[in-house]
Amino acid sequence: MTVLNKTGLNKTGLNAEIRAHFPVTDRMLYLDAAHQTPLAVPVRASLDAFLDEAQFTAGPKAGWLDRVEQVRAQLAGLLGVGAGEIAFTKNTSEGLNIAAHGLRWAPGDNVVLLASEHPNNAYAWLSQRAAGLEVRQVPDDKTWADAETFAAAVDGRTRAIALSHVMFHSGQRNDVESVVALARSVGAEVVLDAMQSVGVLPVDAGALGVAALAAGSHKGLLVPQGLGFLYTATDTDVLAPTYVGTAGVANTSDDLVAGPDAVVLRPDAHRFEIGNYNLPAIHALGGALDLLGSIGLPAIAEHLLDLGDRLIGHLDRLGIGLLGPRERDRRSHIHVLDLPDAGWPPYLAASGVRLSPVRDGLRVSFGIYNTAEDVDRLAVIVERGLRTVPARAS
Ligand SMILES: Cc1ncc(COP(=O)(O)O)c(C=O)c1O
Repeated sequence: MTVLNKTGLNKTGLNAEIRAHFPVTDRMLYLDAAHQTPLAVPVRASLDAFLDEAQFTAGPKAGWLDRVEQVRAQLAGLLGVGAGEIAFTKNTSEGLNIAAHGLRWAPGDNVVLLASEHPNNAYAWLSQRAAGLEVRQVPDDKTWADAETFAAAVDGRTRAIALSHVMFHSGQRNDVESVVALARSVGAEVVLDAMQSVGVLPVDAGALGVAALAAGSHKGLLVPQGLGFLYTATDTDVLAPTYVGTAGVANTSDDLVAGPDAVVLRPDAHRFEIGNYNLPAIHALGGALDLLGSIGLPAIAEHLLDLGDRLIGHLDRLGIGLLGPRERDRRSHIHVLDLPDAGWPPYLAASGVRLSPVRDGLRVSFGIYNTAEDVDRLAVIVERGLRTVPARAS
């Protein structure tokens, strides 16, 4: 019998119990965590419990709202922040747009981002150029970004540096701390897209010192699409909400009549929430956070990076390049293989491997259900493919 330590991981990595929560692993070699999460059994159980209540009782809405607050507190705990600093959103992009529109910038101000940023981060800013925002897109080498990467582009009119914590197309883990220090030196803020890092690496949102941190739930947070969150510190007023609903108002009346009085916004992150919540997804998130919490983010990160070490060993042996960083402290769960030939995706799909082609190569991304054996299986399949997939165009 395998003896587990308290993280739920044994010496060779992830234990069978955690893997058994992900039935997808019986059907395919799933290496696409950076695209979307496979649904885990306990997450589905939380979803099912909600659906049963909805179907058979039409729902104890007050109870469901209590659950929203419990899950909010649980999520805040994962991020090391207060529950009042978390607003639920629809997805990462909504959170980024709340920040991009709420930062009180003036015409002539600028925002700085990497040229290779995720399009949903870039468009939140690019779309506001007509209103006078200058968008400075900084070239990057797709292995790492730190203060030096941005230094020449910032000045006294820089309102924000908008940055992904982990980049979706290279897996690089950017140096947020130094970028925050640079931003502060010119009186600017950092808006962080943490979609690819939350649930994958420990993310101490409060300690990072960013004005806003946005993520969605359908990757590391293990919940299907349609739920996200935005972190903003309660002791600052850097962001003004663009949309306002009852949830964000402090001076609502008991009879729910919205009178002509001045609208007083709630002092916390609730001010960014409008309308009803995605209750099924928030219930599912409760189950997901229990699962992640039972392992612990430090142990999850170590496991995923260990899988990366093993993958890099195979790549080196096979003479396949890694696009993105090799250093462990600059990596994440994402690894892009320099295999750009169009023959690879169909070959891998036919071999039962699920991954994503990205801009420059094939993206292999690990989740908590992946094991060292998965990495070895991939290596065998890729080695065979080197003999059968047509030679590279270049
Ligand atoms: C880094 C990054 N940002 C933003 C997004 C968009 O996420 P959402 O659909 O939650 O808005 C993704 C999704 O692929 C992503 O990888």
